[in-house]
Amino acid sequence: MPGLFSNDILDEVARANDIVEVVSGYFPLKRAGKDYVALCPFHAEKTPSFTVSPAKQIFKCFGCGRGGSVFNFVMAKESITFPEAVRILAERAGIELREDPDARRKTQGRRRLRDVLTWAQERFQAGLAHPTLGTPGREYLKQRGLADETIKAFGLGFAPEGWDNLIRAGARDGIGLDMLEQAGLVIPRNDGTGYYDRFRGRAIFPIFDALNRPIGFGGRVLGDEEPKYLNSPETPLFHKKEALYGLPQAREAIEADRRAVVVEGYFDVITPWQSGVRTCVATLGTALTDDHIQALKRYADEVVVVFDSDLAGRRAADRAMELFLAHDVRILVAVVPEGKDPCDFCTLHGADGFRQCLAGAADAFKYKWDLVQQDLDAATNPAARERALRAMLESVLKAPALAQQDLRLQRDLILGHMSRTLGIPEATLRAEFRRLRRPAGRSAAGTEVGRNLPDAAHRGRQWVAERKLLTALVCRPSAIEDVLDRVPPERIETPAFRRLYEAIRSSPSAGDADVAGLVRGMEDPADASLAVELFEQGQAMETVRNPADTGPGPIEHLLEEALRDFKKIEEEALLEARRQARGQAPTQGGADPNKALKEFAEARGNEAKKQAFTTPAARKRMSGDSGQA
Ligand code: UTP
Ligand code: MN
Repeated sequence: MPGLFSNDILDEVARANDIVEVVSGYFPLKRAGKDYVALCPFHAEKTPSFTVSPAKQIFKCFGCGRGGSVFNFVMAKESITFPEAVRILAERAGIELREDPDARRKTQGRRRLRDVLTWAQERFQAGLAHPTLGTPGREYLKQRGLADETIKAFGLGFAPEGWDNLIRAGARDGIGLDMLEQAGLVIPRNDGTGYYDRFRGRAIFPIFDALNRPIGFGGRVLGDEEPKYLNSPETPLFHKKEALYGLPQAREAIEADRRAVVVEGYFDVITPWQSGVRTCVATLGTALTDDHIQALKRYADEVVVVFDSDLAGRRAADRAMELFLAHDVRILVAVVPEGKDPCDFCTLHGADGFRQCLAGAADAFKYKWDLVQQDLDAATNPAARERALRAMLESVLKAPALAQQDLRLQRDLILGHMSRTLGIPEATLRAEFRRLRRPAGRSAAGTEVGRNLPDAAHRGRQWVAERKLLTALVCRPSAIEDVLDRVPPERIETPAFRRLYEAIRSSPSAGDADVAGLVRGMEDPADASLAVELFEQGQAMETVRNPADTGPGPIEHLLEEALRDFKKIEEEALLEARRQARGQAPTQGGADPNKALKEFAEARGNEAKKQAFTTPAARKRMSGDSGQA
């Protein structure tokens, strides 16, 4: 990983910060054999499953699966980035950090950008407070029902009318136009004669990262001009696909509830917050992404996605299903009654009303399921019935993670549930499921990198082979040299496994059984947790071994097995490719089973498009987006 710090430095910092001492600084640990245990700080539990190993210098929770090095622990506990954790621990040990000069330049650029954003936020707050110029802004926020305390908590501001208020303030405070442009605060004039302020005559909503640092702004018109909202453009600090409005304000409540609520708008965060529901965050005009979920997973086990109508929910249900199936986080769907958004609903029915609405949230799967059942009930002929059924099977299929072994169970539960409710034998559903999975390009395999393995049986095996290989390698990183010749990195298809493979490959310590050394440089807590999980599994295999046994042990066997698996998969893929090249049909005979499905998929695609482009809400959003560009 092209890190900010050299491996020597990371090693030095890690060695100077004993994990037991660092963790004990946060909460007491109890000795249990050679390890220490405590109640897990990352999930709610009654009996301690959080374990710290002084020998391996790692932590691991057997309840929630989180684990990693001392850096990963501090990152998770403080909700900070990897470099920040390194800095804190270096400081704790009195080690001076020498950074890579290139990385330092980049960091300095970001730091300057941060300073400009912080400065701008103060300007906007001053604008709101200005005795005369700020009056329209103050009146607007008051009319929207916001108390002073709320305005302060969210750092709201105001950009008074005028083309160059911020530009002039910048000139006065020594902030150049280039910095203002980089920060997305000014826009170059079309005729090339200079710049003008992006935000004019708008109430300002600063957007913060999890550490409460401004990364961008949203601005709302006071009347009903267009566009209603204007957001900062993408900058090195501001990425709409990751940012969550209201995160630092909601973080504590989310951690306490282990549940986050995702809404659509700025006011849908602020108004509920003021009335007492403080777990809301908003996406910024985009659909919920994997990055959003990744960020929320740090604080919550459940994410409730709120829609303002059944129609909006219907459109987004598939996405919610995908997220639900692809992440180990529960996704629920709540629909606000009466077509209201959370802001209006809270104003009308108070926090309790909104809480009730949230309490009625349905599991994403159940929500989708109810929609399908409505369609089934409405279906007047067998074809329509079949369509509804396939819609469900398809959305189950869409989740790439479902093809993986560990989620088979979830899929089985879904099929079982469908079978019981519809009175269709599970075997029939299963056959249909297999058939749907086959068409090329529609299966999850189509989105995977590299080779396109012909069917799911292979994909399942591929994943198993990858997992075996990585389990063996985290326990025996020294074996990587031999393995690389036989399994080049691009043969690893599962992204997390591939990253781990690359990490082992570039890990300098490569001492066997030194998993802490391996996870030390990992910035993504999920990657570190995976490494530790595989390591523990490998260790467990070794402990059942008779110590008198010499020669190859369980790990060596596992490695051999994995390599054999890879070889077999490759041979079969080759055979299949040859068969297809000769123009033979693959495994299935009979009439073209895919034709009906293809037609159906096309019809459904058109339907979805029609819907998305004709609803008023969609039109509104689209015009808003073009306004921001
Ligand atoms: P809404 O149009 O639902 O706004 O857009 P709202 O939150 O109800 O606004 P108020 O209550 O009338 O003030 C929801 C979100 O979509 C994005 C914004 O993030 C907004 O909060 N949006 C909307 C834009 O980015 N641009 C727009 O023009 C409109
Ligand atoms: Mn709204």
